[in-house]
Amino acid sequence: MKTIVVKIGGSTLGEHDTTLEDIVALHKQGICPVVVHGGGKKITEWLDKLGVATEFKKGLRVTDEQSLEVVVAVLCGIVNKELVSAINKLGGKAVGLSGFDGGVIEAEVADEELGYVGDVKSVDAGPIKAVIDAGYIPVIAPGGHDGKHMLNVNADSVAGEMAVALKADEMIFLTDVEGVRDKSGTMFSTLHKEEVGSLLDMEVLSGGMIPKIYACLRSLLSVDAARIVDGRQPHALMEVVEGKSIGTVIR
Ligand SMILES: Nc1ncnc2c1ncn2[C@@H]1O[C@H](COP(=O)(O)OP(=O)(O)OP(=O)(O)O)[C@@H](O)[C@H]1O
Ligand SMILES: [Mg+2]
Repeated sequence: MKTIVVKIGGSTLGEHDTTLEDIVALHKQGICPVVVHGGGKKITEWLDKLGVATEFKKGLRVTDEQSLEVVVAVLCGIVNKELVSAINKLGGKAVGLSGFDGGVIEAEVADEELGYVGDVKSVDAGPIKAVIDAGYIPVIAPGGHDGKHMLNVNADSVAGEMAVALKADEMIFLTDVEGVRDKSGTMFSTLHKEEVGSLLDMEVLSGGMIPKIYACLRSLLSVDAARIVDGRQPHALMEVVEGKSIGTVIR
């Protein structure tokens, strides 16, 4: 069975209707979609609502105890359950879980400066495979435990590592830009892994694109090509699975 890891960017949530339709359709075709979602936009919304201040460093959110509670509540609660409910409503069969459930993601503190932010240390794909084998679409909220604390882990990193752990066939990142842009703003249709270092050095890649590109590179251990596609475009997911060349391919 073909396994496709689909990262849904929090920034495209709310405009994800056709993405979820595509996920249900793919599952019905016998393909096994594994959804990993972010939720940056929703987290910011709730942090603002609750009056909790945060900042970003290196594209990652500095997370203290208070913001960690909000991050976990929003990602594992609101966003995850909204996605699962929406998929089920479309006639799909989804089970929501997080990197914490079944100890799927073992994390370690990424950088003391970032607080409760983790890098993925290891993935136990067992619980995800169990969900797949039972005929469900796993919908995974990012997060991981280091044995002492829950840690906020970037969803792209979880997606990339999940692709490796599941030996996935495809890795697709749906986001809120048409693809990776060069210095002049033109989209790369193909990006070779050897080019990434210089793009990082020249600061062409910034913010959330940094963990995304690293996640693409990691996933290349399992997939031939990782794709970054505009999830706001109707049926972008189905088109890319069917082989249409949209967005940026990283090989
Ligand atoms: N060279 C680049 N090309 C394209 N986008 C870039 C580039 N450098 C930085 N970015 C930024 O990366 C953003 C995408 O990452 P972002 O983390 O914001 O979204 P996401 O990962 O889809 O959502 P979430 O983090 O909620 O899961 C774009 O909106 C853009 O602002
Ligand atoms: Mg992101």
